[in-house]
Amino acid sequence: MNSDLKFTSEIKNKTEKLYKKIEGTIPKIEWPTVAPYIYEINKLKKEKGVTILAHNYQTPEIYYGVADIVGDSLGLAIDGDKVKTDKILMCGVHFMAETAKIMSPEKKILLPDFSAGCSLAESITADDVRKLKKDNPGIPVVTYVNTSADVKAETDICCTSANAVKIIESLNVDKVIFLPDEYLAKYVASKTSVKIISWNGKCEVHEQFTDKEIIELRKKYPNLKVVSHPECPPDVIKASDYTGSTGSMINYVKNTNAKDIFLVTECSMSDNIQIENPNINFVKPCNLCPHMKKITLQGILKSLKEENNYIEIDKKIIQRARGAIERMIAVGR
Ligand code: 13P
Ligand code: SF4
Repeated sequence: MNSDLKFTSEIKNKTEKLYKKIEGTIPKIEWPTVAPYIYEINKLKKEKGVTILAHNYQTPEIYYGVADIVGDSLGLAIDGDKVKTDKILMCGVHFMAETAKIMSPEKKILLPDFSAGCSLAESITADDVRKLKKDNPGIPVVTYVNTSADVKAETDICCTSANAVKIIESLNVDKVIFLPDEYLAKYVASKTSVKIISWNGKCEVHEQFTDKEIIELRKKYPNLKVVSHPECPPDVIKASDYTGSTGSMINYVKNTNAKDIFLVTECSMSDNIQIENPNINFVKPCNLCPHMKKITLQGILKSLKEENNYIEIDKKIIQRARGAIERMIAVGR
């Protein structure tokens, strides 16, 4: 990190405890360039009354260093709705910041990098949903939160990977349109008798995992527990011991005696959980989400200072999309 900020003795002292906690993830030589950003961000967010939300895929210096609330997509939607400050800064991707805006339209929602997208959200448009509804009249539309506000506005109810099956079953229908993740749709279909009409969206990070790498890793680590995200391909899920949202994966790790774990998901999650579970060997490889990684300490500080990058959504879209998210929150996890 190229920094103009100075690593003063005050900053060194005030960030020492944090460094002890996350030292395994940041080389000591880099800390003098990282710590001043963490210090400045924490100071400025208090002065300006900004709450920082961070997804589980954010890097440890963001997750532990500057975030006030961390969680999976569902947790961020629920907890973001309860935030008391007038401003929220989202350390996550665009759809997460939009969800916060939909839930709190009166708040200013900052997103440090607007190009932090998501291959799933980009796989479908509101026009596509309108066409699907026309071709399948009367079939309710369940939409993953990894979608744009425009798509959510066309939706009956949202879901996340934490509650997709529960949401579908709450509708008491035989058939649903489930968008846009093809693999999540397959996973959900394996857990319910409700018929699913799906879309062909895929997560560019999770689609890269294969069952072959799991088979190879199991040879090397005979007691390996494999914990996968439901955005993974079906053969990967089949080869796993447990599948769930990022929040559920963290809970699995907290409650297991396993020594070797392969988290089949975005890489930073293993780094974050490793810090709280030092005795577990998190087996890699894992893949990075290029969108999540666009959020950096430098970008966060710039966004806090300038407050230029904030989410704007048409009021009518907010109203319609909000109904879909509120119905999801009412069903819960
Ligand atoms: P979670 O809802 O499980 O946090 O996942 C969000 C996401 O983008 C996974 O790739
Ligand atoms: Fe989207 Fe996949 Fe990145 Fe999650 S990991 S934000 S689903 S591209």
